[in-house]
Amino acid sequence: MADEDHERPAPSDLAEEAGRSFAGMSLDDVKDHAFWETQPVGQLKPELDKSGPEGPIDDPMTVDEVKKEGYHLPPSFEWCTCDVTDKKVNDEVFELLDNNYVEDDDAMFRFQYSREFLKWVLQPPGYVKDWHLGVRVVGTGKLVAFITGVPAKLSVKGKKLDLAEINFLCIHKKLRSKRLAPMLIREITRRINLSGIWQAAYTAGVVLPKPIGTARYWHRSLNVKKLVEIGFTHLHSRMTMSQTIKFFRLDKKPATPGIRPMEDKDVPAVTALLNNYLKKFAVAPVFDEEETRHHLSMRDGVVYSYVVEDPDKPGKITDFVSFYSLPSTVIQSSGGHSTLRAAYSYYNVAGKADLTRLMEDALILARQKDFDVFNCLDLMDNAQFLKDLKFGIGDGNLQYYLYNWRLHNKLGPGDIGLVLT
Ligand SMILES: CC(C)(COP(=O)(O)OP(=O)(O)OC[C@H]1O[C@@H](n2cnc3c(N)ncnc32)[C@H](O)[C@@H]1OP(=O)(O)O)[C@@H](O)C(=O)NCCC(=O)NCCS
Repeated sequence: MADEDHERPAPSDLAEEAGRSFAGMSLDDVKDHAFWETQPVGQLKPELDKSGPEGPIDDPMTVDEVKKEGYHLPPSFEWCTCDVTDKKVNDEVFELLDNNYVEDDDAMFRFQYSREFLKWVLQPPGYVKDWHLGVRVVGTGKLVAFITGVPAKLSVKGKKLDLAEINFLCIHKKLRSKRLAPMLIREITRRINLSGIWQAAYTAGVVLPKPIGTARYWHRSLNVKKLVEIGFTHLHSRMTMSQTIKFFRLDKKPATPGIRPMEDKDVPAVTALLNNYLKKFAVAPVFDEEETRHHLSMRDGVVYSYVVEDPDKPGKITDFVSFYSLPSTVIQSSGGHSTLRAAYSYYNVAGKADLTRLMEDALILARQKDFDVFNCLDLMDNAQFLKDLKFGIGDGNLQYYLYNWRLHNKLGPGDIGLVLT
């Protein structure tokens, strides 16, 4: 047996240890996909792929040609539109997701989107109520399934698309494997088509026909003691808890001169900074000022945004960092902890500052807000700082998809400039 040499692991070894992801499986053999093989998406089986130029896969349609009545559900279920500004409905959606939404592979953690988060993310400028689609049980009215779309502008290889971002596909655990998901997807597509929108963007942990790109979650421990206690991460065999705490210790305050919370007056500068940065990616959102105000203004408990105001030129915004709050329920609560408080990297632009230094400040700010872990995908320029800042790689991939838009080649994570919450 090799000598136990009592050396501590190099920092990068330790950082590489940890973290559970919610992003599911790896690439499998090509499976059959009874539903997705009928849809205008890239296909995993080359013989099913309709060749053509990059762009829409389906022939163009008009709104008049879209089916006016909803698809049929089995008789005991009915469609509903979920108004998340209605407290009762917001509670119902929260509870459906709280009990049935995404879990990690070992069923230790389940996303817990807050009520405030749902209101925020489902109501961007121009949102359409009809795109917040639920399924209820006839008679009892119980909400048992959900899917949402929100309008967004995406630049895909230089073409500006008005599309829908699809999120929150969720079916009650007791109604799984009954082919309800394809019904939800068909019905939301119909409702979105009725607004004259023909494309969508979405992400999933699973591999479906056919990812346009794949990203990976990385995790940076902020409160490593708690993360070990709840089984999110584990101690390296040759490091004690106190050594591990020291390893992940951060400064108390951010170091970039002029960094401060974003204010409403910063909206024009942040919009310009973001759009200018995002245009280098093959797929990225395009924000107008109203959208920046909505998506990126500080909202306590939901989204946190900071700008750097140049100390030499008051009023000049040079850099931007943001993260959103998405806690998870600790399913088998342990060590007295029932919630994992996770911050997720959102949009970051290093103008004058060094990106690694700026992101270290983001970690410090997240720690100040009492987050336990900072999660980050390896897209945009994020790969530059993940190792230096002691992120450890997660255990699953996040697949990116476009509906009804053909791309000839798969994008690398560094070509993706889109974060779907
Ligand atoms: C994802 C979920 C809605 C699928 O429901 P289900 O009852 O397992 O599956 P159904 O029998 O209704 O439908 C199966 C079809 O949905 C597809 N599907 C499964 N997960 C999907 C996803 N995340 N996105 C899109 N389609 C998906 C399957 O591939 C299958 O289609 P195929 O035959 O063409 O491959 C359900 O498992 C769920 O609520 N999981 C927890 C929340 C979650 O993971 N949501 C997805 C977040 S991306």
